[in-house]
Amino acid sequence: MRHKVTVVGSGNVGATAAHWIASKELADVVLIDIIEGVPQGKGLDLLEAMPIEKRDSHIIGTNDYADTANSDIVVITAGIPRKPGMSRDDLLNTNHKIMKDVVGKVLQYSPNCILIIVSNPLDAMAQAAFKMSGFSRNRVIGMAGVLDSARFRTFIAEELKVSVENVTAFVLGGHGDTMVPLARYSTVAGIPITELIEPARLEQLIQRTRDGGAEIVKYLKTGSAFYAPSAAATEMVEAILKDKKKILPCAAYLEGEYGINGLYVGVPCKLGSKGIEQIIEIKLTAEEKAALDKSAASVKELVGVIGV
Ligand code: NAI
Ligand code: 2OP
Repeated sequence: MRHKVTVVGSGNVGATAAHWIASKELADVVLIDIIEGVPQGKGLDLLEAMPIEKRDSHIIGTNDYADTANSDIVVITAGIPRKPGMSRDDLLNTNHKIMKDVVGKVLQYSPNCILIIVSNPLDAMAQAAFKMSGFSRNRVIGMAGVLDSARFRTFIAEELKVSVENVTAFVLGGHGDTMVPLARYSTVAGIPITELIEPARLEQLIQRTRDGGAEIVKYLKTGSAFYAPSAAATEMVEAILKDKKKILPCAAYLEGEYGINGLYVGVPCKLGSKGIEQIIEIKLTAEEKAALDKSAASVKELVGVIGV
């Protein structure tokens, strides 16, 4: 059976996500945006790449939500990105308005879909989408941890000059300056990185991970990262469409897990055809738990501002 994935927002992250999804032949893709012509142009351009890539994914670009009907997954990237000097939180009110507009229209045509939220500030936008949709929590998932842990994995692999395939890493908490890269649960070929990298150097890699988004914004000046973010969203799409039961760090609505209630926070989740099929609770040290609580508190402050 062919799958259908809609990507809302055909800007940098959205169009690149469509590219990864189609080039992996995971699904037919609908790219939608409020700007007329851009999704149509990018969609057609990508479709014309398929013979070269030897992929039969069908791609269309549109401004009409009717074309998105019966999507299995809707990835929401609509919103403004950061500019230098802006934090993700500066995007709060603008992107909340956009999220309200988008979620209402998505639900009208794809009431059974799974939502993957990408727009920032991520945890607050996921919480807004969850509350607006009325979906069960397994069907509204925020993308951040896959990206943040991929950045951590990249820095570890470069530091030790090993294959990125050997490196696993976990980043918990909100997608912000208070995110919690967990060195103790990050490994190289099964060896904890705490055995391989000196504490002071490890702390530098952790800080670079926390600043990973800002590092790219500083270079780009007119926008934020999009290759790794869209690859991260695509890994989540793949895990769901192929029912892989893959454990990935995702923003999930916690109902008591990790001692947190009624809030989207990044935690390890098992992704399969039903979306989040399990939230994995791992033991944290007192210091790690305090860092997670601090991160959750900053998400709580944001959701309080928009009242979701
Ligand atoms: P972009 O500016 O390139 O694209 C955003 C697109 O959204 C634009 O084409 C715009 O026309 C569209 N849009 C705005 N309002 C809309 C609406 N009501 N309906 C449909 N489309 C609408 O921005 P980019 O770089 O693609 O980033 C998108 C969002 O993703 C930003 O909020 C950014 O901060 C966030 N982001 C989140 C990441 C994460 O880890 N969760 C990582 C990277 C980006
Ligand atoms: C990032 O981490 C901007 O949230 C985006 O690159």
